[in-house]
Amino acid sequence: MGVSYVPQTNTMFPPVEIVQIPPTRIRTVMRDPLAFLLRSAQQHGSFIQYPLKVATVYNISHPAVIQRVLQTNSKNYSKNTVQYNTLAQITGEGLLTSDGRSWFTHRRLMQPAFHRQRLEEYATIVGEATEAMLVRWQAQAQAGCPIDIDAEMMQLALEIVGKTLFNLDLRQEAPEITHAVLELLEYVVYRATNPLVLPPTLPTPRNRRFTAARRMLDEMILSTIAARRASGEDPGDMLSMLLLARDEETGEGLSDAEIRDEMVTLLIAGHETVASALTWSWYLLSQHVAVRQRLEEEVQQVLNGRFPTIADLEKLPYARQIFDETLRLYPPAWLITRRALEDDPIGDHTIPAGSILILSPYVTHRNPAFWPNPLGFDPQRFTPEAALQRPRYAYIPFGGGPRLCIGDRFALMEAPLIMTAVAQRFRLNLLPGHPVIMDPLVTLRPRHGILMSLESMEMKRKFHYSSNGS
Ligand code: HEM
Repeated sequence: MGVSYVPQTNTMFPPVEIVQIPPTRIRTVMRDPLAFLLRSAQQHGSFIQYPLKVATVYNISHPAVIQRVLQTNSKNYSKNTVQYNTLAQITGEGLLTSDGRSWFTHRRLMQPAFHRQRLEEYATIVGEATEAMLVRWQAQAQAGCPIDIDAEMMQLALEIVGKTLFNLDLRQEAPEITHAVLELLEYVVYRATNPLVLPPTLPTPRNRRFTAARRMLDEMILSTIAARRASGEDPGDMLSMLLLARDEETGEGLSDAEIRDEMVTLLIAGHETVASALTWSWYLLSQHVAVRQRLEEEVQQVLNGRFPTIADLEKLPYARQIFDETLRLYPPAWLITRRALEDDPIGDHTIPAGSILILSPYVTHRNPAFWPNPLGFDPQRFTPEAALQRPRYAYIPFGGGPRLCIGDRFALMEAPLIMTAVAQRFRLNLLPGHPVIMDPLVTLRPRHGILMSLESMEMKRKFHYSSNGS
C-alpha cells in the first residue's frame, strides 16, 4: 500500500494572536495554569502572546514555532525561567536546569550512559525489578488486596534508575525516597505558583518539610559518592563516569556538589516521569478494554508466558503504541519553558528579547489541526504510517533539539518492557468509585493515586483452557 508523504517540517508560521489578561485574573490563571493554557489555545490559536506587566509571555502549541524554539534557533533560548529556577532549588546545576558551557560539557560526558549497548544491560535490571514486584503482587492478588498503581510504579521506576545508573540497591529506601521527592516537587510547584510566599529560610511547616526532605536525599547521595570514592571501584556506571571525568583543558574533575546535582537530576527526572506515564497507561487500559484485549493478545502471541527482553520489543509494537498514545494524552512533562535571549523574528512577528515562552506538550498534543478527535485514546495514531503524516514537533513528550530528554530511549525501552511483563500476569481494574483527578504538578500526577484490583491472568488462562477441555 502506498503511503502519502507529508514533509516532517512545517515551515509555515501561524499569525500571532495578542490576548490581554487583566491583572485581577492572574491569580485564577496561576491556580490552574494548565486549564488556562488549553482553554486559551482553543479560543485563540497556537501562537498567543500575553503582554503582562512582568514580561511578555507566549503560549505556543504550533509545531513550526516549537521547532524554531527547540531546534533551529535553540541557541537563542535559555532555561532562565521561573519553572527551571525553582526546580534548581532541588537539582542545582544539573543537566535539566543548567545552560551554556556547563550544560554542554556535562551532556557530552553523560550521553554514553544512554547508548544502545548500555540500554541492553539496563533492560536486564528492568526485568529483574519487575519480576520481583510481580511476585509481591501475586500474594496481594490472592489476598484480594487492591494496589495503588501510582505508588507501585514510582517505587519500581526509582529502583530501576538507582540500580542502572548508580549501582544502588534502593529496594528498602524506595518508599521513603519517593515520598521525599514528592515533598520537594510539591514545594517547587508551591513556590513557582505563589511568588509572594514567605522566604524559604523561615521555619514554616512547609519550609521545614522541604529542608528535611532535601537533607535526606543529600545525605543518601553524598554518602554514596563518598563510599564510591573510598572504594575506588569502577563498575562502569553513570556514577563512575561522573567521578572519572576530567576537563579536557584544565584536567580538573567534577566536585562532589556537581556530581550530587547530576545524581539528583537523574533520580528525579528518570523516575517520576516514567512512573507517571505508566500509571496513566494502566488507567487508560482499564477504561478501554478493546485496547487492553489487543495488548493481551500481542503479549500472549509473542511471549507465550516468557518474560519479555529488549529483543522482544520490536515484536511488541502495539505495547509501544499504547505508551506513545499515553504520552500524548498525559505527557508527564506537561510544561516546557524558555526565555528569549535576543529578538527572534518568527514569520511576521518578532519575539522580543526577555520574553517567556511556554510550550506545553499537553496543549500541543491536543491541537486539533494535527490530532483529529484529540481527546480520544487511540494507539493507532502511532503506527509508523500514521506518524509520518504529522510534523515532528506536533508530538513533544520528550522535548526536542539539543535539549531533547537524555533518557528518552531508556524510557521507551523500560516502559513497554514493564507494561508487557505486567499485562502477561495481571489485568488491572480501576477500583469502582475511586476518584481519578489529574494534578499538573512538576509532572502530571493522579491526585489520589490510582487504586486498582489485580486479576491474575494465569488463573484466567487456566480457567479458559479447562473450560475448553484442553
Ligand atoms: C516518559 C519518561 C520521560 C519523559 C516524558 C521525559 C521528558 C523530558 C522532557 C520534556 C525534557 C526536556 C525539557 C526541556 O526541554 O525543557 C527532558 C529532559 C531531561 N530528561 Fe527526561 N523524560 C523522561 C524520562 C527520563 C529518564 C528515564 C531520564 C534519565 C534516566 C531523564 C532525564 C532527563 C534529563 C537529564 C533531561 C535534561 C536533558 C538536557 O537538557 O540535556 N528523563 N525529559
